[in-house]
Amino acid sequence: MSVKFYHNENQVPLEMHKVRMVQKLTLLPIEERLKCMQDAGNNTFLLQNKDVFLDMLTDSGVNGMSDLQFAASFQADDSYAGSATFLRVKKAIKEVFGTDNVLPVHQGRAAENILAEAYVTEGKVALMNFHFTTTKAHITRCGGTVEELVDPKGLKPQSDDPFKGDFNLENLQSRIDEIGAENVAFVRVEAGTNLIGGQPVSLENMLAVTDICHKAGVKSVLDASLLQDNIYFMKMREARCKYMEPKEIYHLLADHFDIIYFSARKLSFSKGGIITSKDPKYTKEMMTFIPLYEGFLTYGGIDVRTMESMAQGLYESLDMEYINQGPEFIAYLAKELADYGVPVILPAGGLGCHLNAGAFVPDMPHNQYPAAAVGTALYIISGIRGMERGTVSEQREPDGTERYAELELLRLAVPRRVFTLSQIKYVADRVKWLWDNRNLIGGLKWTEEPSVLRFFFGRMKEIGNWQEQLVEKFRQDFGDSL
Ligand code: F0G
Repeated sequence: MSVKFYHNENQVPLEMHKVRMVQKLTLLPIEERLKCMQDAGNNTFLLQNKDVFLDMLTDSGVNGMSDLQFAASFQADDSYAGSATFLRVKKAIKEVFGTDNVLPVHQGRAAENILAEAYVTEGKVALMNFHFTTTKAHITRCGGTVEELVDPKGLKPQSDDPFKGDFNLENLQSRIDEIGAENVAFVRVEAGTNLIGGQPVSLENMLAVTDICHKAGVKSVLDASLLQDNIYFMKMREARCKYMEPKEIYHLLADHFDIIYFSARKLSFSKGGIITSKDPKYTKEMMTFIPLYEGFLTYGGIDVRTMESMAQGLYESLDMEYINQGPEFIAYLAKELADYGVPVILPAGGLGCHLNAGAFVPDMPHNQYPAAAVGTALYIISGIRGMERGTVSEQREPDGTERYAELELLRLAVPRRVFTLSQIKYVADRVKWLWDNRNLIGGLKWTEEPSVLRFFFGRMKEIGNWQEQLVEKFRQDFGDSL
């Protein structure tokens, strides 16, 4: 943050851009919101966006595009082979990561599919700081298993540790020794660890991981989907990065990791995905799968206009005045809430502000789904759509018992360059009200529970009439306000 305010209790994040294209929002009256939530089976994924005021479901594919990104998309060259668009993407990747070998894929999970197809076979183990849902699904589908080696500090909901996504290096070394390097498919670092609150990994830790991998002869993979936020945190929180340009950090990482992939729905404010490596050996090993699953090697299933906006967006991922916006809005929101006593994941990470729903409703058992319940309550009282990141997002054990999440979180994603500060203040205000009325929040039970991806499609019912009581209390406190 380069601009200080004269009067300021909570440092105000100042946008270094202006908004010149707008999209109308609607805020329905609370009684209609109650009906929408119940019609959606108390699942925020099943709400219609027209019924949502602030969509904080995800930061994926919903980031604000710049004027230059829109402009770039008009010069697209959609020739099937030898496309100039692909050369522009390659040039941008070279600028950002310093790498020459580039495979386009249609989104992040497509890169994970290719990685799994290329390197995971029955019995292989993928070691990572923390899993992401789609990553794990592809690895297990190919017969592999996932082991998480995040430092235990990562699972503490509130602390002042700057890098809660760090690997536990001792465990990494000892697990490689125990499993045997030949049985390790790869070691994957998720920069900006999604499921534990968008928590960053330090540069020192990433480089130590790659050192261990190189010595052991194990492939190192960087999931760079959330790297732009992670680089912001490195510059803010890690002494050695303070005076490094973002580009130097990206390049240093690309020098050390064997393979880098990312979802361009996050990194680059666009859509699509990329796999890149300094050593052509790796892209050669993976490239045969691209025409099979994605499309020709020059477009990988991505629309060419999107590729152009990705290329431009990649240059913008080097610009601190752009990449600071997400983390600073999130930090502002988290501080507003924490100062009021609302349990949020601290320190604030990237991606979004995470409410610790377990602490919101501490007496609610996991099998009444606290994070989902707080999510439905928040939508009803505000029109804000968050994402359950707790037990509902887990999958039952093979014997049917519930697998309780380590953290019951409600994620309020902050898409980059999208919301204004008054909208963020509205979020803080309504969450504070909900906190003060948390005794009214009740549990949920399944009415339709799919066996896979239940968090996308499952339907639930509220236990008792607590949602109506919440509406009544809202009307008492807010009168006829929306
Ligand atoms: N890796 C990370 C760290 C992610 O956060 C995601 C997506 C992916 C890979 C997969 O990328 O969606 O382009 O296929 N995260 C989204 C989210 C879905 O809402 O957190 P994708």
